[in-house]
Amino acid sequence: MERRVQTMLLKFVLASFVLLVSIRDGSAGITSSFIRSEWPAVDIPLDHEAFAVPKGYNAPQQVHITQGDYDGKAVIISWVTPDEPGPNHVQYGTSESKFQTSLEGTVTNYTFYEYQSGYIHHCVIEGLEYQTKYYYRIGSGDSSREFGSKHLPKLNRKLPTNWEIGELGQTFNSLSTLGHYIQKGAETVLFVGDLCYADRYEYNDVGLRWDTWGRFVERSTAYHPWIWAAGNHEIDYMPYMGEVVPFKNFLYRYTTPYLASNSSNPLWYAVRRASAHIIVLSSYSPFVKYTPQYMWLQEELKRVDREKTPWLIVLMHVPLYNSNGAHYMEGESMRSVFESWFIKYKVDVIFAGHVHAYERSYRFSNIDYNITNGNRYPLPDKSAPVYITVGDGGNQEGLASKFLDPQPEYSAFREASYGHSTLEIKNRTHAIYHWNRNDDGKKVPTDSFVLHNQYWGSNRRRRKLKHFLLTVMDEIADM
Ligand SMILES: *[C@@H]1O[C@H](CO)[C@@H](O)[C@H](O)[C@H]1NC(C)=O
Ligand SMILES: *[C@@H]1O[C@H](CO)[C@@H](O)[C@H](O)[C@H]1NC(C)=O
Ligand SMILES: *[C@@H]1O[C@H](CO)[C@@H](O)[C@H](O)[C@H]1NC(C)=O
Ligand SMILES: *[C@@H]1O[C@H](CO)[C@@H](O)[C@H](O)[C@H]1NC(C)=O
Repeated sequence: MERRVQTMLLKFVLASFVLLVSIRDGSAGITSSFIRSEWPAVDIPLDHEAFAVPKGYNAPQQVHITQGDYDGKAVIISWVTPDEPGPNHVQYGTSESKFQTSLEGTVTNYTFYEYQSGYIHHCVIEGLEYQTKYYYRIGSGDSSREFGSKHLPKLNRKLPTNWEIGELGQTFNSLSTLGHYIQKGAETVLFVGDLCYADRYEYNDVGLRWDTWGRFVERSTAYHPWIWAAGNHEIDYMPYMGEVVPFKNFLYRYTTPYLASNSSNPLWYAVRRASAHIIVLSSYSPFVKYTPQYMWLQEELKRVDREKTPWLIVLMHVPLYNSNGAHYMEGESMRSVFESWFIKYKVDVIFAGHVHAYERSYRFSNIDYNITNGNRYPLPDKSAPVYITVGDGGNQEGLASKFLDPQPEYSAFREASYGHSTLEIKNRTHAIYHWNRNDDGKKVPTDSFVLHNQYWGSNRRRRKLKHFLLTVMDEIADM
């Protein structure tokens, strides 16, 4: 009897422990003490080979692809021709150098101050087969160029998916981070905004730096779809030279399939890709109640079908949870509007950029807080998403190294260095997440964890826990 009571007590303690762990979700956070030896955070000079112009008259350059529809049976292929508008078609097919089909794109050009853009082409290719490698050719004659891209997998397929997440810029740090994207061979890049930092230049150099960046990233963007979110460095609001239309450079060059998700604006939209529903939000467009972005998100969240796409991922530029001195609280207004929806709809993970450092949160929420009740501290919340800030691809502004001290409870891991993240979705319950520090050009895996699906994973865990607790209760009652 004595022994049985002891065993029971032990089990009871264990049960309380399981409960506690599942509520607190881990230990106190870590502030990494890693200090990066100073690498110059300067932009790569214009004549560097990283920006080389492809050979030949009017040769297509700045080639990039993105998803072209809601469910991933289409891509948008975009490129720039410097000398004249034509040719404007993409030839493509499923074997190398054999292109069965040819499609016309659209062509535009614009000015930014006195800078005159090249001819910007966008071509939507629809009806692609899942899990198939496609080859495509653009340009003509000696100047034509060929690329290949493995087209994406079917929605909710069983195979794993590999994704990269990050920000960039056009410094030498960006160059090595980009090298790391390519090394890993991920099939999609989720880009959290701040492409080229061209707004750090003036007058005609702004447009020029958009062009260099387009050529710089082509080694990845021509082969893997990038899912674009816009950051503050895309706004390019420059009244001193008469340029006041926000996002002008970005929107001419980088299109998104926003109409497919019934969005009214290319800056916010959703795509369903492999086993994930990806929602892209715009931190720099109106989002309060009754605005188009708010109304759209409300509808989009209802369309999420976790049977079809078990994972729900949100991208935005400004993080909602950030304990860095840089950009502290800038995400607070969006947090107060959208956080309760993210919890209600069991968003798995939210990726943001903006802060030039890395940070990962525990599952915390602050939905109880309002201006009159004084509950102003975020609390552990199993239903909350994990928030990850990867604003550290390698930009010209340098790192944000002043973190709040002490580290707030919601902050699990933070480090001020350059890097990027990868997400390997294994199946509907598990994904493996890594953040890789870019240590003077070397890729060093630094923070990693298993991301449990909020919809599928927690249901199962809860069921298991309930079962365990009931068994213990029964046994105690039996004594
Ligand atoms: C676009 O290109 C055409 C043809 O070269 C040119 O006439 C026009 O001025 C350009 N438009 C802008 C806005 O740069
Ligand atoms: C967008 O709206 C149209 C027209 O109402 C509808 O047919 C379509 O299914 C909607 N698309 C999505 C992704 O909901
Ligand atoms: C603010 O919090 C108080 C106390 O919890 C609650 O009574 C009140 O309804 C809340 N107000 C709003 C607008 O949510
Ligand atoms: C899902 O993947 C995880 C990690 O690889 C594995 O441990 C788990 O057994 C898998 N679950 C199913 C149902 O295959």
